[in-house]
Amino acid sequence: MSTLIEQAMQRLERLRGAGVNSPMAVPQERRPIRSAESGAEGRTAPPPTGLTSASRTSKVVALNAEAMALARVFPPGAGPAAQASQFRIMKRPLIKNVADLRQTGQMRSNLIMVTSALAGEGKSFTAANLAMSMTTELDYTVLLVDADIARPSLARMLGFEPNQGLLDVLEDKAALQDVLLSTNIDKLSVLPSGTPRPRATELLASDKMGELVEEMASRYPDRIIIFDSPPLLLTTEASVLASQMGQIVVVVKADGTPQAAVQRALSSIASHPVKMMVLNQVHAKMMQGPGYGYGYSYGYGSES
Ligand SMILES: Nc1ncnc2c1ncn2[C@@H]1O[C@H](COP(=O)(O)OP(=O)(O)OP(=O)(O)O)[C@@H](O)[C@H]1O
Ligand SMILES: [Mg+2]
Repeated sequence: MSTLIEQAMQRLERLRGAGVNSPMAVPQERRPIRSAESGAEGRTAPPPTGLTSASRTSKVVALNAEAMALARVFPPGAGPAAQASQFRIMKRPLIKNVADLRQTGQMRSNLIMVTSALAGEGKSFTAANLAMSMTTELDYTVLLVDADIARPSLARMLGFEPNQGLLDVLEDKAALQDVLLSTNIDKLSVLPSGTPRPRATELLASDKMGELVEEMASRYPDRIIIFDSPPLLLTTEASVLASQMGQIVVVVKADGTPQAAVQRALSSIASHPVKMMVLNQVHAKMMQGPGYGYGYSYGYGSES
């Protein structure tokens, strides 16, 4: 019978065969949340490092440390060191590409889509933690967009009241600058998904969204914009959105997503020049064999 590590290695090989060189592995964190972050049960968790008090104006939100700890989203300097290290490794090629691709004329390199084949693979977890990690970059600010308009979750994960956002801008009910929220994490802004409405999915694939994306890329060139996006195989708007992005991160739930689904998802974005695949929720045992420690290789499929 093959060991967990052998199974993991076989799976990684199969994923490589699906078009990406070496998927990055993010461990599944299994520590109890309350005892780790809150001390005695029922006590409110202290704000993680990086959270400062923010003035309450209409455009500033204070993210909720306890909600974030529950979702395993941590600002810089807080949370498990292994998780922080994985996101540092993950962000590095993405950031390098922002500048490198601009030099080759790809002006949307600051737009990064986080997607997956199916639901529940860890898109929002990855998008939010990646955004947090990127706030430490000196040259950039970060905007985290909840573009998963059918299943928005960033407001819950980060612990702020959902308000107007992307959908309101797409329906001309609000201006972009009026719905962007500054947060109490230095250099991090958030664009919520906005007021739910019946035509929401069409709006995400609309020309107006294309114009908005273009405006975001050019108006905020020193801002890295991370889109928490719908899954590629369950929605049609995800691949439309993908075609407008500069870089795509495909999150794959380890031991969860069928190989065929990963392959179909990758083929739906086959023409996109810059893709990274992230293997998420890797069980700790899989990470202990040779070559599977923290900091194990990340994959960056860049075929131009
Ligand atoms: N590596 C990880 N370690 C710990 N928890 C994780 C990890 N990845 C995801 N989770 C948790 O698993 C759950 C599902 O993740 P998440 O909400 O990010 O998936 P999703 O792909 O955005 O789902 P949906 O398609 O519903 O939007 C969340 O509670 C998240 O906090
Ligand atoms: Mg999500």
